[in-house]
Parts: sequence; C-alpha cells; structure tokens
Amino acid sequence: MGKCKICNKAAERIVSFGKMPIANGFLNRIPSDEFFYNLSVAFCPECFMVQLDETVKPDMLFNADYQFISSTSDAMAGHFEKISAEILEKISGKSNPFVIELGCNDGIMLRHIAARGVKHLGIEPSGNVASLARNNGVKVLESFFNEPVASQIVRDYGQADVICGSNVFCHIENINSVFKGIGILLKNDGVLFFEDPYLLSIIKKSAFDQIYDEHIYYFSGLSVSKLARKHDMQLVDMHPQDVHGGSMRYYLKNSLSNTANNKVGEFLSEEKALNLDRLHGYSTFKDNVDKICSDLRNTLSDIKRKGNRIVAYGATSKSTTLLNYAKIGPEIIDYICDITPNKINKYTPGMHIPIKSHEAFVKDTVLYALLLAWNHKKEILEKEKEYRRKGGKFITYFPEVVIE
Ligand code: TYD
Repeated sequence: MGKCKICNKAAERIVSFGKMPIANGFLNRIPSDEFFYNLSVAFCPECFMVQLDETVKPDMLFNADYQFISSTSDAMAGHFEKISAEILEKISGKSNPFVIELGCNDGIMLRHIAARGVKHLGIEPSGNVASLARNNGVKVLESFFNEPVASQIVRDYGQADVICGSNVFCHIENINSVFKGIGILLKNDGVLFFEDPYLLSIIKKSAFDQIYDEHIYYFSGLSVSKLARKHDMQLVDMHPQDVHGGSMRYYLKNSLSNTANNKVGEFLSEEKALNLDRLHGYSTFKDNVDKICSDLRNTLSDIKRKGNRIVAYGATSKSTTLLNYAKIGPEIIDYICDITPNKINKYTPGMHIPIKSHEAFVKDTVLYALLLAWNHKKEILEKEKEYRRKGGKFITYFPEVVIE
C-alpha cells in the first residue's frame, strides 16, 4: 500500500476499480491502444485524507487540449456569479484589494471581478481555457501553482486579500506546496476558500463516479482541518454547495487570530458519526457501489430486452468511472449527447461510446436516457420538458437506480 501524499504515513486501501482510462480523455477515433492506470482510493489514519493511490502525470490531464469548460451550464454560471458577489462583499472597504483564483478555467468567476476593475489574477495551467479567460477580460498567469510561483506573484503583484479555487485543490497532488505558497501569498488578514466534491456526500450516496484521475483528494472537514493546522491556518467555516453532486466550501484563515464557527463543529461531528476518521467508516462503500452497478446493468438490459433503444445525457468526466467499472458500452448506449462543442463527434474513454450533439437528441425518438450529468438534473429536467412530455424517461443511479 502507498504512503499518504500529505503526511507520508502508511495509507490503507478503501476500494480498487481496476484499470481506468483518462476520465476527460475523449477520443477523436477509436485507438488501437489506450493509456490506462489503476484507479483505487486509500485512507490515511493519521491525517484522515481520502486520496488516490496512483496518480496520472498532471500534464497528461491539464494541457492545451483540456476539455472541461466551466461555462456549459446556466446553473454553474449563476453559482460562480454568486461567488464573485461574496468576494466583492469581503473586499469592500479594503484599499486596492487583490483577488487570486487558482484554476480560473475560462474566467467564469473572475470575469465578474475583472468587470468591477478589481485587481485580480487567475492561475491556469491549461492553455486553451486560459485563452478563453483572457477573452473574458481576465488577467491570467498560465502556470501550475506552487511555492516558487507564489513567491514570483508576490514579487510581481504583492500579497492577496482573497485566494480561492473551485474544483481545483482536489486536483493538485503536492497540496503541501500549494499551502506553503498560500502562506507566502495571502495577507495576514486574508481569507482562503475553496470548494470540492464533499467526501460525506460521496459516501452517503455511494457516488463513486466522483473518483477519477483528476480528483486526487476527497476532502472532509476532518481532513481539511488537519491540513490547515499543518500549515498554520485554521478551518473557520464550511458552506455546503449543491454543485457537482454535493460539494463543500471550506474557509481558512491565519490560525493566530481566528476561531472556527459552530458550523465547523457540527460538520465534524456528522463526519465522525459516520466514522470518516476510521477505515471502518468506508467498509460498506464497495458493496454499495457494486450493488448500484449490477442494478443499473440489469435495468438497462431489461429496457433493451423489451426492444427499446437507450442513449445517455452529458459526457461527463465522472461517467468514465461509471461506464468503465460497470462495463456499459456502445452495445447498450447508442450515443451520449452533450452541448460541449469539442466533445461532439468524439468517443468516450475506454468504452468508446460515440458523442453526439444535443440537436441529435432533440431529433431522436428514443425514450430512455441515462443521466450521466446527474449533478445538473434540475437544469436538465427543466430543459427537457418536451422529451418527457413525449414519454421520454431519465435513468439515475445515486443512491439507487430510478427511472423517472
Ligand atoms: P460536469 O458537470 O462538469 O461534470 P464532470 O466534472 O464530471 O465532467 O459536466 C457536465 C457535462 O454535461 C458537460 O460535458 C456538459 C454537459 N451538459 C449538457 O450536455 N447539457 C446540459 O444541459 C448540461 C447542464 C450539461
């Protein structure tokens, strides 16, 4: 078993999903050979961090061909606008405040800060999305973030009042270097906040599709509080978020002058009640996951046996884990529809299901759609009223398989 990436103590295996392709590695053509790695997660009994055992080199994931574009959902656009409003409130009254976002993607959040003329910087390693951010009026440093980069930013621009990141901290293996960099870059009275898929939601729903190459860490209040203390910071607040199927936003400040509010204590108690600070808390996870996969395969086979076609909705990264682990391929799913232009006409990693445009779905008479973008269910059900009016059904699977 491997060592914990944070404290270097021996980590304990929770579950292995076997060989997996790159989750966001949508393919132009079906290849004769494809890259696979071993997908498994482990728990560190010392710092309570749940993490991938084996990681994929970051430049294989976050490069000029990065296919995740933040601005593909109205709900997400609204979510990021709210974050920007919260930041503007936090910095109001400060003289010449400075806001930094790690992993700014296409500028979905920072463009609102930029539009107010506030000093800001987005740090983004993926060239294609960094260009989109620049087109949105955002100042971008095209780079990964670490200690030396933090020092360079302080030299070039000064220290920050706010540092934030959405769905990015869990992507960075050397999180200790990120926190050391934040120690250099954040003003003494500054605030760091970040949000990522919440371990407690994953465990409660058995939402194992959140587990894939880009998500190296599965944070909880318990692990973030330990990580903060290791770096002389304190977890002072936690706000649950609906996005990405259940995320948590963590607020951290300099430990010398701050105390945690009651909500942190409440979340930590709930996590402890589920034993997320012990390997025992994860003992039923694999059985729950396996039951969902077999129920889903049986449901899909049943639908096919009755002579129906099935498509899927939303070529998400997370669906790579589901489709490959449950072995759901083109013999079951005709195609996946998606609105992201650079995913259309490609094939899914590993299972090689073709991806088509949303227009193809609208023209289709199909009556069953596997909702792979289940985290956008509310928005998609609202959008697809006509499909449902004509008898079309969506199939969801967390925490159990439902046809509705
Ligand atoms: P996302 O929520 O970012 O999940 P992941 O991080 O697992 O990739 O991906 C949502 C995908 O679903 C994205 O490819 C866009 C697509 N999508 C649609 O095709 N139609 C929609 O209405 C919505 C909301 C998303």
